Amino acid sequence: MSDKSKPQTDYTRRDFLMDIGKTGGIAAMYGTMGALGLFAPPAGAKPVNFAPPAGLPRGKKGNRIIVIGAGIAGLTAAYELIKVGYDVTILESRDRVGGRNWTVRGGESETETDGVTQTCKFDRDQYMNCGPARLPQHHVTIDYCRELGVPLEIFTNQNADAYYYNEGPQFGNLSGVPVRHRTAKADIYGYMSELLSKATNQGALNEDLTTSDKELLITFLNSFGNLQSGKYNGSTRRGYKVSPGAGDQRGEVDLPPYELSEMLQSRFGLNFAFEFGWDQAMLMFQPVGGMDAIPKALERAIRNKTKLIYNANVAGIYNTSNGVQVIYEDKSRVAKQLEADFCICTIPPQILKRIPSNFSPEVVDALGVPNPTSTGKIGLQYKRRFWEEDDKIMGGITNTNTNVSTIWYPSYGYLGKKGVVVGYYNFGGNANFYSNLDPAERQEQALLQGEKIHGSSYRSELENSFSVSWIKTQFSEGGWVGWPTSGGQRVPAYDLLNQPEGNVYFAGDHLSYYIAWQAGAFDSARKVVMEIGQRVGA
Ligand code: ALA
Repeated sequence: MSDKSKPQTDYTRRDFLMDIGKTGGIAAMYGTMGALGLFAPPAGAKPVNFAPPAGLPRGKKGNRIIVIGAGIAGLTAAYELIKVGYDVTILESRDRVGGRNWTVRGGESETETDGVTQTCKFDRDQYMNCGPARLPQHHVTIDYCRELGVPLEIFTNQNADAYYYNEGPQFGNLSGVPVRHRTAKADIYGYMSELLSKATNQGALNEDLTTSDKELLITFLNSFGNLQSGKYNGSTRRGYKVSPGAGDQRGEVDLPPYELSEMLQSRFGLNFAFEFGWDQAMLMFQPVGGMDAIPKALERAIRNKTKLIYNANVAGIYNTSNGVQVIYEDKSRVAKQLEADFCICTIPPQILKRIPSNFSPEVVDALGVPNPTSTGKIGLQYKRRFWEEDDKIMGGITNTNTNVSTIWYPSYGYLGKKGVVVGYYNFGGNANFYSNLDPAERQEQALLQGEKIHGSSYRSELENSFSVSWIKTQFSEGGWVGWPTSGGQRVPAYDLLNQPEGNVYFAGDHLSYYIAWQAGAFDSARKVVMEIGQRVGA
């Protein structure tokens, strides 16, 4: 366990944790950190003031604001501005609100940037959240749901009965074998506990632990790993070959455990840390009926109090001597012009960069700095919920090294007749792979991978599919952006775009430290609304 070549005096607590991390995967390391009381208190979510942002002066009569984009940032800006009496017009390029918060349902068509059109054929009550799909408990998004009356239900982000599936020679005996999360965790936690227990009992940690600490650690490891006399032999945590039942049916535990070496080679343990994440730990939530309940509720709240113009393609944004001028093409491609005191622009930077403006060259350059992320999903509508009926998986996510990356089982409509499985949700190279295929090929590839885990039902029960490639989605051209960093800090372009350019303010999750979360869009909108309010009041 410990590096015996190191003088014991150099073997710090950090080394101890790193060794556990290397040997046992990150989960064992965190477990040990927890046992040692090393967890820092979580960074608390900011208190939220759902009155208009504190200190926001009322709009003076005639304070006009153009908001570009009716995604979460744009709608939130409008919602907060009208609370204090501003005159708001929203320009939205699509014929719906929400932006990347898009829930696709039967009957809806979408044409990707290469001209390929899909029409969704899902049944009534079936849907896929193409963009955001999970809400952590502590995000401001939940507070807006409370204020707007958007009902929530649990989104199952982790399920002990979902699978890990890796394939390739490096994965050893477990290559090509679907293994339940609970089984992999039982074995890996068990073996890591056994190893650490042995190291402790052999005195390898004498420099780091008092006698009493060692006893406490051993007690913890026995419980964490389910050890018997310091050894991991497998346990009911792995699951059963035959379930326990009535009378003399004691059940047959799924034994023996996989070998330690097999588990290490499988790399399943590398998935464990995901669920420790600040934003990914259960419980997580989703709006009942689809994520778009959030933008729809915002739209209802601003309806009749603001002007929302759909199918408005912004063609120019100009600072004028005392305000802003925005040129857009309406649905009939007629050029229109709007004037206002300020503009809040939520267009993704990679698109905004191409739109004519009189922004400074530095701002135009800065818009080209963040890198759009490729990500995609496919919704597979099945006529039978075989993952529930056959595999006993009620929601949650399967992780795989195949090009689908993850398979999501629906966290709604349990026990129903049909259901929509997200056959892939992936990023980067895997997302580009699917993005470059036509919809029928995307479906075929997703089935080829899913069949390896779920068998023939994955193909035979399929009714239809709908796929989204965010890099090829009009008006988004990416799932989110990544900012380059320098010395651990985001580059200056980030700070520049967080400043107003004359009378134009930029907002969106890309201008927050909650990128790829609606919370970033909510928070960014609140920030610029506050800044405008302070400026108007000054
Ligand atoms: N927030 C996005 C997710 O949870 C990236 O997948």
